[in-house]
Amino acid sequence: MKPSIAITRATFPDVLARLRAQFDVLDNQHDVLWSQAELIARLQGKSCAITHGSDRIDAVLLDACPQLRAVCNVGVGYNNIDVEACTARGVLVTNTPDVLTETTADFGFALLMATARRIAESDRYVRARQWNKTGIYDMLLGGDIHGATLGIFGMGRIGQAIARRGAHGFNMRVVYHNRSRLDPAIEAECRATYVDKETLFAQADHLIVVLPYSPSSHHAIGAAELRLMKPSATLVNIARGGVIDDAALATALREGVIAAAGLDVFEGEPNVRPELLDIDNVVLTPHIGSASVQTRKAMALLAVRNLEAICAAIHPAAPTPPTPVNPQLLNEPARLRA
Ligand code: 8YV
Repeated sequence: MKPSIAITRATFPDVLARLRAQFDVLDNQHDVLWSQAELIARLQGKSCAITHGSDRIDAVLLDACPQLRAVCNVGVGYNNIDVEACTARGVLVTNTPDVLTETTADFGFALLMATARRIAESDRYVRARQWNKTGIYDMLLGGDIHGATLGIFGMGRIGQAIARRGAHGFNMRVVYHNRSRLDPAIEAECRATYVDKETLFAQADHLIVVLPYSPSSHHAIGAAELRLMKPSATLVNIARGGVIDDAALATALREGVIAAAGLDVFEGEPNVRPELLDIDNVVLTPHIGSASVQTRKAMALLAVRNLEAICAAIHPAAPTPPTPVNPQLLNEPARLRA
């Protein structure tokens, strides 16, 4: 009998076909968002699940789905999963790091440039047929990117990839803040200088946030931090909603505390605060940092490879998923959920 698994959101047809060839698959190709009760109901009897940022995997769900052995998240971030609760119950968690690093860094840079150079606003201006005179000396002036100071808040793989783009591509001075300072060899390669949080906010001409969300990073940027920034500065969030206090940011943008912001992620997304929708100096995108054809496919396939290694392991007691989040369980197979 094929193992029974679920994939909680729609995916590429060939990814689904690969799963179907090996597993009894409950899919969701209509991409209907399941409530928590529906998610629990649909995971009954499933040994593994491919999950997404919109699914909440918590202790209540794990206790209600005792046959669930692994959760393979499509996404590098996994703040939707209570990893501690999973580990305590012997449930493996995997994510999709690395395959999205460069694509997400590209996007972060694109959003920074669109924000600093007012591209979305310019597009609206032309479409609104407001452009009736060419060469207006102060029309839609933005801030320079080349040669400016790029601040990076959160210097993991994606932060480092952004630093390289800034330093080597745009001759920017790069400063960063991270929980821990990087190895000097990586700092040198990224041409990035470690600074404390206050210096980061004060010095950056363009600040990009790439911090994972956790209770300790909740509202890491609020009114006080925004006030430390230059009035000419740009702020970009490609990390998670909740790292920035969106209400405080909307006020800061309206009052000119900073010049502009680019947001790909929001508190309570897909809902966006109405205040943000009504101001011009913010570029809004719908959480598409990793959304290139190649990368979304690679993320889905990495989640499948994790699931295959766990569910279809020749020695089910010794799975070897490529990208585990709680690898300590792999060293103690006796703790894994049977
Ligand atoms: C995904 C992301 O779009 O990888 C992440 O953490 O936020 C994005 O790349 C999202 O997780 C899709 O479920």
